Amino acid sequence: MAKVTLTVNGRSMSGECEDRTLLVHFIREKLGLTGTHVGCDTTQCGSCVIHMDGKSVKSCSILAVQASGSTITTIEGLAGNGELHPVQAAFKEHHGLQCGFCTPGMVMTAVDMINRHGGSLDEPTVRHELEGNICRCTGYHNIVKAILSANAEMHSGRQAAE
Ligand code: FES
Ligand code: FES
Repeated sequence: MAKVTLTVNGRSMSGECEDRTLLVHFIREKLGLTGTHVGCDTTQCGSCVIHMDGKSVKSCSILAVQASGSTITTIEGLAGNGELHPVQAAFKEHHGLQCGFCTPGMVMTAVDMINRHGGSLDEPTVRHELEGNICRCTGYHNIVKAILSANAEMHSGRQAAE
């Protein structure tokens, strides 16, 4: 057993787990943050994407012990004071989700891609950057629209919450 300490959504959290425990299971089962999902066992679907030290990562492909000491943001930490993050609001407005299972990972990926590309994000780049996130419901089109809309909003004065 190992002790894992993380800063999660701005709060210090710790727990014990086996050395083999995946970060996604630690987040869901030890920390009770079940917005982060598991959709595959081959690191393809991206429903487990979180931010670790500011970068989007697939939390199913990292051991919890490897992440110890890092700063994590999950989907639960994105909204500030009950107000949706612009990417969350855009997914809602543009109907970028149906079952919602891929959505937490999609949103975390989208925030990271917007942060990295600044105001220059375009549709081909969004589609390319979404190659690590699979959705079985939407056909992606409304997800792309939502991300481009959020990008425009976030680079017209209202900056991202993180
Ligand atoms: S659970 Fe599918 S990529 Fe992580
Ligand atoms: S909304 Fe159902 S998998 Fe994407």
